[in-house]
Amino acid sequence: MSEELKGNGHCETLVVDDEPTEGVSGSATAALCARAPVGLLAELTHRCPLQCAYCSNPIELERVNKELSTETWCSVMKQAGAMGILQVHLSGGEPTARKDLEQIVSAASEAGLYSNLITAAVTLNRPRLEDLAKRGLDHVQISFQDVDAENAERIGAYPGATQKKLDVARWVTELGLPLTINAPIHRQNIHNVGRYIELAVKLGAQRLEIAHVQYYGWAYLNRAALIPTYDETLKSIELVERERERLKGVLTIDMVVPDYYAKRPKPCMGGWGKGFMNITPAGKVLPCHAAETIKTLSFDNVQDRPLLDIWLNSEAFNAFRGTDWMKEPCRSCAFREIDFGGCRCQAMAITGDARNTDPACALSPYHGEMVRLAREEASRPPASFVYRNPRNAAEATKAERPLVPAE
Ligand code: SF4
Ligand code: FES
Repeated sequence: MSEELKGNGHCETLVVDDEPTEGVSGSATAALCARAPVGLLAELTHRCPLQCAYCSNPIELERVNKELSTETWCSVMKQAGAMGILQVHLSGGEPTARKDLEQIVSAASEAGLYSNLITAAVTLNRPRLEDLAKRGLDHVQISFQDVDAENAERIGAYPGATQKKLDVARWVTELGLPLTINAPIHRQNIHNVGRYIELAVKLGAQRLEIAHVQYYGWAYLNRAALIPTYDETLKSIELVERERERLKGVLTIDMVVPDYYAKRPKPCMGGWGKGFMNITPAGKVLPCHAAETIKTLSFDNVQDRPLLDIWLNSEAFNAFRGTDWMKEPCRSCAFREIDFGGCRCQAMAITGDARNTDPACALSPYHGEMVRLAREEASRPPASFVYRNPRNAAEATKAERPLVPAE
């Protein structure tokens, strides 16, 4: 077996057997296995008791009557395990809103997947968490809208949320499950980054994600309410770097920075169609959670086509795979295999063409204007939140945001 095929136990079986999987030839399967996705984000539902204005869900929220059945989600878990996916992130909306979460967790565990429950934790009780743990749930991630309870409950529009989250965090560690605290950072809580770190240590979390909001979907709509100033951003980054050193061996701190102030873009999703899949509540399979904002793409559904075939052969996954699709300046840039031209969805949102260089890159002709707009928005008093709820979704889908002009 070649070097690149190692490191994924499920994959070895597929390659050694070289049996065709439904809809895919054996040799194609082998080729695929070398680059099977590591992670699958399963958005089980868009229902959520919170209404955060930075939500990464699309503006057009999926209705409950369009959600996949229990049987289909269980089949997805089985297919994911067979094709070599290692981790499944059970997300939403709020995944505990699904009454069949227990069965889906069991199916993930039987398929050999490492399962991570991403929850707002306001509707979870201890018996249910214990049951999920018994069924093989491996990890829990809880988001805190802020460490200051009053501000957190204003941001999430859910009174009483903080105490519920603290209770669930305690149960998670009491049950011996690893805990990650997710801290979505923006101008209305960025002053509390240090207190988030204290909270994560106090709760016995293994990991803290200082996740500066990324501006797609609801966050793009709410950018003027959310984007911090350059100085605030820099201060928060420096603080995290100091605290990482101090807390080595106690707490792992991951950080996602807002790339509006960067010179080079992030390698979004680690490269399109390279290591990640996202399934919407209605079963559409996307290369990233915001891919539906690229209206020129069409997405296959797990109800119509095997997951492996979609990963390998679908139009959407192949649209921006590798580097052949790139335009200049990415096409001839030395970093093209490192950052893959940045984020397709950000290029789409800001320039109107997903094939353009991500404007977070200083070489993009849109970069200067994007940074100027961000700095200007951040210098004004914050706009009011457009909360993520079905009423605002209906309004927001009618309104178009103007594109940023090129220099
Ligand atoms: Fe990355 Fe493209 Fe910018 Fe080069 S030009 S640094 S490949 S985004
Ligand atoms: Fe879609 Fe970055 S969020 S490619």
